[in-house]
Formats: sequence, C-alpha cells, structure tokens
Amino acid sequence: MKEKALEDLYRRVYGCRCDCPGEREGAGLVRDCGNPDAGIIFLGEAPGGEEIRRGMPFVGQAGRKLEEYLKLAGLGRRDVFIINTVKCRPTRNNGRANRKPGICEIKSCARWLQEELKILSPGVIVTLGDVALKNFGGNKIQIGNYHGQPLVMGQFKLFPLYHPAAAIYRPALEEVIRQDFVKLGQWLRENAY
Ligand code: URA
Repeated sequence: MKEKALEDLYRRVYGCRCDCPGEREGAGLVRDCGNPDAGIIFLGEAPGGEEIRRGMPFVGQAGRKLEEYLKLAGLGRRDVFIINTVKCRPTRNNGRANRKPGICEIKSCARWLQEELKILSPGVIVTLGDVALKNFGGNKIQIGNYHGQPLVMGQFKLFPLYHPAAAIYRPALEEVIRQDFVKLGQWLRENAY
C-alpha cells in the first residue's frame, strides 16, 4: 500500500525541475530506503554524487558514518526509513562538487516531502542536520540548540541530530554525535518506538 503510493510519488518527482538559482542534477533518481512501516524516519539533506550513481540515500561517505552511528542507537537500516529533504543533487563546478541546498530548493521540494510524510505517517522524524530541521522549524532554528533531544513541532515528533557528515569536517563533533545517537536509542526504547 505505502510502496505503491511511494512509487507513484517518485514517478512524479523524477525529472522535476525548479527555477531556483544554482546548478543541480538527478531529480528523483535517489529514492527512499529502509522499511516504510518502521514508524521512524531519518530525514537527510540532499543526495550527493554517490547517491545519484546508486539511486539510494546515504550510501557515500556520510552513509558509512550514518550506519556506524545507527548501531549506537541499536538500529540498522532495516529498522528505519531514510529520505532526503531535497530530491535532486545540488552541485557546483559543473557537477564536480556537491553544494548545500538553498532555501529556494528546500521550499520547492517541500511539497514532495509533505506527500512522503502523509503516506508514511511516521511516529518520529529524526532530522539529520540543519537543512532537515529547518523544514519544521523555519529558517531561524539552529541545530546547535536542539540536537539530541526530542521536540514537538506542530503535528510532528522530531528528534534532531547533527548531520553525520558534520563529524567529517568538524571532528570535535564526533563525540557529541555519538552521544546523541545513544540518547536517541534510549529515547526510542523508553517510548516504545
Ligand atoms: N547526505 C544527505 O543528506 N543525504 C544523502 O542521501 C547523502 C548525503
């Protein structure tokens, strides 16, 4: 049931174009992954080059970090469902590098995310990084103030975490991220997710 609805949605996302500034590629080439009935969604930022090549979210360097951290929460990929905020790969230097999605791209893709959330109806959304959190908290909310604790935003129960890639470019965050994933695991167990 959910698979069919997601299939229809991704067919529409495929080839989606927006008028936002900046170069990008591969709209809709990267699908979701994991268990759509899990009730726990991990929401990332946008696919990178490796994700576009393999058609799955979090399969590059950040994905290897994510898998390592999921274990600290007692989880594996099959226990969760992983999606991205932006459905294409924002690029620069003629596709040679990834770029952080802009507000225009985040807003433009929000309609796809809303449809995904309606289909999946998750018990909890684990936002990975600033971009994912801003979907719910607006542009002013900052991950530095909210990571590692549950948060209710409108109809959604969130558990904001730093993006796994943050540990790659800010090694001082490694231990913070590890502790946050341990906290997530404890919180999920206490709340029977
Ligand atoms: N970073 C993300 O936010 N999403 C991916 O799919 C890969 C890297």
